[in-house]
Amino acid sequence: MRLDVVTIFPDYFAPLGLSLVGKAIASGIVEVGVHDLRDWTHDRHHTTDDTPYGGGAGMVMKPEPWGEALDALEGLSDAPMTIVVPTPAGRPFDQALAYDLAGRSRLVFACGRYEGIDQRVIDHCRDRYEVVEVSLGDYVLNGGEVAALAVIEAVVRLLPGVIGNPDSLLEESHSEGNEQLLEYPNYTKPAVWREREVPEVLLSGNHALIAKWRRERAMERTRERRPDLLEGDIS
Ligand code: ADE
Repeated sequence: MRLDVVTIFPDYFAPLGLSLVGKAIASGIVEVGVHDLRDWTHDRHHTTDDTPYGGGAGMVMKPEPWGEALDALEGLSDAPMTIVVPTPAGRPFDQALAYDLAGRSRLVFACGRYEGIDQRVIDHCRDRYEVVEVSLGDYVLNGGEVAALAVIEAVVRLLPGVIGNPDSLLEESHSEGNEQLLEYPNYTKPAVWREREVPEVLLSGNHALIAKWRRERAMERTRERRPDLLEGDIS
């Protein structure tokens, strides 16, 4: 998979060199390019924003640098581009969308700042590429960078070869086939810590009982914290 990011803050993406994503890059599973939008400006101040037509607070990102940036990126690879635009006005990001994006060969993240990107850039992209506007949740960040990092991490860990034991993908909250339940609580050694004991059933070696206990705890948590996930559930 190839990932490109366009941003006015390339430094936000330094952590991509760490941990599992860093290893996926080092091993060639994913190729990442981070690009400074200001490289496609032509004025002395490298201006990327301007006041909104119609008035109002804040600034809007100008269309010209975005147009040139996306044209240039198109030339970098033959794979069809899916443009991912982080915005609080987007489709809520979830595990199903992470799996969908993980199946694509090329993602281009367009990170807006201020009040967003001139709408004509998005419309222009929709005519040429697939565009997915994604929201991390119902709150406002200062720009798309942190959201792009979250989406990249969620997507890259699903690529074959990134996670050592792929079974661990199956049991976690929101995983495919497990969309309706949050993950059960986990414990490791020591068996007693600050007078708190690990639930006895987990030490029993009885796998059927352990599976039953885990399913009950997962149900309990989900009912308590995310009843919306159980709506329509008949099991
Ligand atoms: N940009 C600003 N806020 C955002 C959010 N909640 N999700 C995605 N991108 C954003």
